[in-house]
Amino acid sequence: LARGNRATDLAGRHVVISAGGTREPLDPVRFLGNRSSGRQGYALATTAAARGARVTLVAANSALADPEGVTVVRAGTALELREAVLMAAADADAVVMAAAVADFRPAVYAEGKIKKREGSGPAPIELVRNPDILAELSAERGREGQVVVGFAAETDQVLANGRAKLARKGCDLLVVNEVGAEKTFGSTDNEAIVLAADGTEVPVPHGPKEALADTVWDLVVDRLTGGTP
Ligand code: CTP
Ligand code: CA
Repeated sequence: LARGNRATDLAGRHVVISAGGTREPLDPVRFLGNRSSGRQGYALATTAAARGARVTLVAANSALADPEGVTVVRAGTALELREAVLMAAADADAVVMAAAVADFRPAVYAEGKIKKREGSGPAPIELVRNPDILAELSAERGREGQVVVGFAAETDQVLANGRAKLARKGCDLLVVNEVGAEKTFGSTDNEAIVLAADGTEVPVPHGPKEALADTVWDLVVDRLTGGTP
């Protein structure tokens, strides 16, 4: 497929990207979190801005510096991220969920610091499900023709699990990272495969996060322009 000009092909478009990892507070000093650095989401933001897009980056607990020319909205928890993403997505041409969103949060937030109890074991932490933001975005679509993209890391049966997840979420594209030792289709050094709802799949060789980001934007542009770049 012939490519348009990557310097301008997102001009006039508004794209929303979530990045980083949510933190779910237990008490004023503790949280349940994850190790997401935010680098892939920030790479998506800088590459989209370089291609002319107006970019809203919803950043969850990332230590990275705000990219230049990008509107950064901070969110701590999954519920805060959901609010910020849905708000920004209302007029977006594309939404990319690169953030690691906690599947669960503590059922109760303790207003005071939780104390250990003498003579008894630790109290169990009860968890409740967080809303699935990607599924919600996919079902609702802030505007006509909006492209919705998800990310997933899978350790085994990468393609089968990825396909099932894409269908379950209802998004247009799912970037599946192959993690762990078992690479069932391990003949190449591909680090990711972008699965599309139309049945196609694009392997992305191991490389910088900006290269994967640019491939994602290529596929988004194809869909925004009806496959005629
Ligand atoms: N995601 C989301 N809201 C959640 C959980 C995940 O929007 N509550 C998004 C992530 O940002 C990512 C995609 O969904 O883009 C896939 O995340 P993943 O954790 O792989 O999906 P889950 O449905 O949570 O599946 P699993 O049980 O494998 O964790
Ligand atoms: Ca999950």
